[in-house]
Amino acid sequence: MAYHITKAVIPAAGLGTRFLPATKAIPKEMLPVVDKPAIQYVVEEAVRAGVPDILTITGRSKAALEDHFDRHWELERALEKKGDEKRLKRVRKSNDLGDVHFVRQGEPKGLGHAVLIGKNHVGDEPFAVLLGDDLIDEGDHLLEEMIEAQLKHGGSVVALMEVPAEQINLYGCAEVEQIDGETSGVVRVKGLVEKPSPEEAPSNLAIIGRYVLDPSIFAVLEKTEPGRGGEIQLTDALAERASATGEGAGVIGVVFRGSRYDTGDRLDYLKAVVRLGTRHNEFGSDF
Ligand code: UTP
Repeated sequence: MAYHITKAVIPAAGLGTRFLPATKAIPKEMLPVVDKPAIQYVVEEAVRAGVPDILTITGRSKAALEDHFDRHWELERALEKKGDEKRLKRVRKSNDLGDVHFVRQGEPKGLGHAVLIGKNHVGDEPFAVLLGDDLIDEGDHLLEEMIEAQLKHGGSVVALMEVPAEQINLYGCAEVEQIDGETSGVVRVKGLVEKPSPEEAPSNLAIIGRYVLDPSIFAVLEKTEPGRGGEIQLTDALAERASATGEGAGVIGVVFRGSRYDTGDRLDYLKAVVRLGTRHNEFGSDF
């Protein structure tokens, strides 16, 4: 199905401090999950959802990301010479995916700031944002559902997931209400708060790493002051959009009930490797 969203921004400029020392010299998005770096799953997901134009926001020591989506002639030639078609196909797959562009953030001033870097590339149309370290199971169609919700309701769309109350302080949290005539999985977001304490949290619905944003978010981000942690928070800009009216305002939540892994978190990363490893078509059963 062809959708109206053609551009995606993948923020991948964070420092990855939770995974040190593994991420001292290697970007966390390049850590392998079975046999592909995490970011390749994310790019594949965008392409599967019909979004071929991808802008990746990178930073210092993230050159490996650019190399991964570029051609590797020497490697291809060596495999061609050997007649190793199978591995040749695997190595080419990463540079045959969509149209992947790169721009640097300069300084990691927060997720909101990283998204704002995409302004000129995106222009004046709704666009998708996929966090480069957040994996959504291949069998789920979260991004497609969010794109459909954006088409139907307009404004911006966030992905929400129920988390245990004691973990809500790790996420942006949404206050929501049902929409007449909608399924329970599509809700209106009335308010958002970044990393609240369990007592302050308006719900147990956490924002996870997929968004479909109206371009009016850029003007809001330009005015958003650094918030929690001294960073420009996307959640703060979305909170403004949720309470605003007029062109491009309003925020919808799509509640995700599938599998999601934050590969920047060591435990979640290990779970992703084990679950995807056991399902691998070549060696899953042995593993
Ligand atoms: P995280 O909250 O995972 O932060 O960022 P982090 O700095 O990457 O990692 P830790 O917490 O130190 O381990 C959420 C997303 O926003 C991107 C990250 O790359 C990740 O995809 N991000 C964050 C940026 O692109 N730029 C920033 O300035 C901050």
